[in-house]
Amino acid sequence: MCDPRLCRPRLGAEDIAIWASETYRDARFKRDDFGLYEPVENETRVGPTTYAVRYVRAAQRRSAWAKRYDAVMALEYLERVIVGGWQLAEGHARARKEPGPEVLEAYYRAGFRVFDCADIYTGVESLIGSFIGAHGLGSNDIKVHTKTVPDISSLATLTPRDIETSILRSISRLGLERLDLVQFHWWDLGVRRYLDVLHTLSTLRDKGLIREIGLTNFSAGQLEEILAAGIPVASIQTQYSLLDRRPRAQLFETAKRHEVAVLAYGSVAGGLLSERYRGAERPREPHENRSLTKYLLILEEMGGWRALQDMLGGLATIADRRGTDVATIASALCLHDDAVKACIVGVKNTAHLASHLALRDEVTLSEEDRSELEAIRIRYPEIPGAVYALERDRTGPHGRIMKYGLNEGAP
Ligand SMILES: NC(=O)c1ccc[n+]([C@@H]2O[C@H](COP(=O)([O-])OP(=O)(O)OC[C@H]3O[C@@H](n4cnc5c(N)ncnc54)[C@H](OP(=O)(O)O)[C@@H]3O)[C@@H](O)[C@H]2O)c1
Repeated sequence: MCDPRLCRPRLGAEDIAIWASETYRDARFKRDDFGLYEPVENETRVGPTTYAVRYVRAAQRRSAWAKRYDAVMALEYLERVIVGGWQLAEGHARARKEPGPEVLEAYYRAGFRVFDCADIYTGVESLIGSFIGAHGLGSNDIKVHTKTVPDISSLATLTPRDIETSILRSISRLGLERLDLVQFHWWDLGVRRYLDVLHTLSTLRDKGLIREIGLTNFSAGQLEEILAAGIPVASIQTQYSLLDRRPRAQLFETAKRHEVAVLAYGSVAGGLLSERYRGAERPREPHENRSLTKYLLILEEMGGWRALQDMLGGLATIADRRGTDVATIASALCLHDDAVKACIVGVKNTAHLASHLALRDEVTLSEEDRSELEAIRIRYPEIPGAVYALERDRTGPHGRIMKYGLNEGAP
């Protein structure tokens, strides 16, 4: 039984009983249309305040969020924030990294229920699997979004059996009966076999090994092609931030039209859009991690360090006004777009837990906030081209820093 003060907002009946008896001695709760419990009106004033207020606000916002996006029934459990696991991978830099199990535990105890990983994030599926096993969690307690990222050297020869083997490997690492969401990445669109692989994933979905199929780093045109081929796509994961607004050109509109949930990564650009870099010097090479290199390259495409400082200034003004921090405003801005159903925030320690909670439960931006930021953003160029187009050029700076064979030899 989870601690009722840490459970939110999808409480079970027993949790509610404890909540009511221990914290809200006299409170009664009703179930709303989305299976969430909400305190009965006029009874929210009873009981000690902090958790009470937080719980009520969270339930209301969660409910409003669900109503806003009730078309996206495939991922009906989605919350505004997904915990991103890349930063916990074995190859990621050690600076400020806390032990993975402790980070997962802290986020889970704070009520985060959706975690993102990939077969190529070394050790992360197993880490989450150990956490699930140690706490006896089931598919109602946690949702894990993973990715299938075949190595570039295998694209021309991949067989359906290879795909099934990789799915079974993810299932075994996670210790789940089936995968909640498999997000498919394809390194080289010149090798036109991605539809074959997606058909195989679709078959594995029919067999019950996968609950939903997602995509990552495909453009609007490719999404259309994949949907036209009959693949049931639930979501598409893409980079989106104040710096990189490529998905706004086409992808958001296409995703909305087909009721495909956009899941945004890079909303704080690897940490560049946070207080740490406001007024700071541009980091010198070698960079702390590949993520920082990746987002610094993105920054160079749209105005460089001066542009970043301008935007950090604008974000800070709003953050001060709202009593929160720069990174929370940067991510909240991404959530403002109604195509975006969740932000995936990279997590390798518990330092930002409070701000991720605020993003999840409390901070939304007004039109005025948005206009202020827009007035700064339009001083600088937009990154041209479709999402991930720059990254797909393996001879260019963005493509050269990628690792294309991380599955090779993995247990
Ligand atoms: N599909 C894909 O191709 C793809 C690519 C990249 C990432 N992803 C997914 O998206 C997740 C996020 O990765 P990302 O590259 O987008 O990283 P990100 O979330 O933009 O940046 C993560 C880093 O930013 C800092 N940060 C995060 N929240 C903060 C806050 N509230 N305040 C201050 N600093 C904060 C932290 O650095 P410190 O801890 O050092 O302070 C953290 O390690 C990954 O874990 C992964 O699951 C997917």
